[in-house]
Amino acid sequence: MIKLGVLGSGTGSNFAAIAESIKSKKINSVEISIVISDVENAKILDRAAALDIPNKYIPADDFKTKLDGKQEQDYINALKSADVDYIILAGFMRMIKNGLLNAFPQKIVNIHPALLPAFPGLHSWKQALDYGAKFAGCTVHFVDAGMDSGPIIAQAAVPIEDNDTAETLHAKIQIQEHIIFPEVIQLLADGKVKIEGRKVKTENCESNI
Ligand code: GRF
Repeated sequence: MIKLGVLGSGTGSNFAAIAESIKSKKINSVEISIVISDVENAKILDRAAALDIPNKYIPADDFKTKLDGKQEQDYINALKSADVDYIILAGFMRMIKNGLLNAFPQKIVNIHPALLPAFPGLHSWKQALDYGAKFAGCTVHFVDAGMDSGPIIAQAAVPIEDNDTAETLHAKIQIQEHIIFPEVIQLLADGKVKIEGRKVKTENCESNI
């Protein structure tokens, strides 16, 4: 059994997909111990409360775009108290710094709405569309000190059609996110994910993981 701490700043559709996969037993040996948001009224907290999953707003606004300093320590304390094995970043809009990385080495996983290493940063689906790429997609990766730069665990591609808008493309990407994120979490629970430098090896996986 692995225990997850989920961090998010927004709507929490990825959190909901993971929680639903656990509830419907699509994935097993996984439990969500705590959901934490840096946004007081974030929908992810309401969704967690509706599912009776412990949830907490912990301010992180001492810095604009990162989680650092005393507030980073607040997050570490909460995640350690909840005894989490993995931290799942599900739309958490802050850079993760060394304090948290060192407290949970190789245990922090993020989902990014692009086929990394293309289009790191914000609004990546729009970046892909504006660039004229033929494929967009999503990436699940371990978190390191860089921006969306850690070793890649899984990706799913989404073709970009001529009539796609930023909204339709993001919606299509999110459908894939909701599939591959739970799949990766199952692999973690089964101990089937091995990091070898930049490369991540997974065993006996379905789809394109
Ligand atoms: C997702 O598109 C994810 O790739 C990005 O932030 C978004 C979060 O969406 N990191 P949600 O809050 O899970 O709906």
